[in-house]
Amino acid sequence: MGNLVLYRKYRPQKWEEVIGQEHVVRTLTNALKLERVGHAYLFGGPRGTGKTTIARLLAKSLGCADLDLIEIDAASNRGIDEIRQLREGIKFAPTAGKYKVFIIDEVHQLTKEAFNALLKTLEEPPAHAIFILATTEAHKVPETILSRVQQFAFRRLSAAEIIQKLQKITSAEKIKINDSALRLIANYAGGSYRDAESMLEQLRIWDDKMIEESDIEELLGAVNFEKVKVMTDYLGGADAKGAIDYVGMLAEKGTDLEMFAKALVSHLRKMMLIKVDSSLASLLAQELTADQTEIVKKQAEVFSLNSVAQAVKIVMAAQNDIKRSPIPSLPIELAVVEIINNKNSI
Ligand SMILES: Nc1ncnc2c1ncn2[C@@H]1O[C@H](COP(=O)(O)OP(=O)(O)OP(=O)(O)O)[C@@H](O)[C@H]1O
Ligand SMILES: [Mg+2]
Repeated sequence: MGNLVLYRKYRPQKWEEVIGQEHVVRTLTNALKLERVGHAYLFGGPRGTGKTTIARLLAKSLGCADLDLIEIDAASNRGIDEIRQLREGIKFAPTAGKYKVFIIDEVHQLTKEAFNALLKTLEEPPAHAIFILATTEAHKVPETILSRVQQFAFRRLSAAEIIQKLQKITSAEKIKINDSALRLIANYAGGSYRDAESMLEQLRIWDDKMIEESDIEELLGAVNFEKVKVMTDYLGGADAKGAIDYVGMLAEKGTDLEMFAKALVSHLRKMMLIKVDSSLASLLAQELTADQTEIVKKQAEVFSLNSVAQAVKIVMAAQNDIKRSPIPSLPIELAVVEIINNKNSI
């Protein structure tokens, strides 16, 4: 087995390797054939569905050299200065080939001033510049920008599509796993290929053993439930220090914080449903044991409906930010502070 993490090793290098997103692939490969690639695109859609992958493929297909592919993370470069700098850089011709490609990730995070500066560039781009704006929240991108770009809506991948790629990887890597276990991973990933892959990565530690459904349930269920329960207790007790220490401990132990955040969202959602109406607990019967349901009910008592609903939103946003955060635990730490502040002020 190689020591490259799966996502780096198996990121599509060719258009044929992209799963799903047929409409995007078809339109872009046609544009390439006809030499009619546009100057600005917006890739919108859920996390881990291929936006960055396809943006890089497009750059590669345009013969764009590494130096001429500029990736900007708008989540950490939100301001006018960064966009101004970009506008300065745009003037210079590509070092090799015909194009310079600018990928601006999480573009919805730009400040208003930065959007305005970007708009100016989109209005009169130099012939060699191609912009690909990517975002999980296309609805937050101003109309003025939208009117200047060709939009593509990426969709969640189906479980079948996810399984298809996971199967290739497991056979190439000689990971032993049975079909129902794969299906479980694909279902749990909720349309995000990245989540599925990261789960597989965590399961690899068993290496030689055949991975079965029960291993996955264990990985997702019991482990998650316990961790998430502890975290929710800290939040319920408004113990920010306890919660932050706990996240630090999880990070140190190598817990995948994105998956943890996802499990926390799902746990808080359950609490919210129970608060809306306790009869909704029956909806959760499939996902929780009777004991677990009791714990969730008890934990829900110390939150108001409003504060738990806020908490769901906050952790969901944090989950999205983790991968780009310079410090992986930071988005959850911020979420903790925000949730506890909200809870105290309601
Ligand atoms: N449609 C797809 N086909 C093949 N592989 C995919 C697809 N979508 C995602 N992947 C795989 O999942 C990983 C993450 O994909 P990518 O970075 O393109 O997601 P993204 O849509 O940009 O997500 P985010 O919004 O979180 O940045 C990649 O390494 C890639 O191998
Ligand atoms: Mg991306």
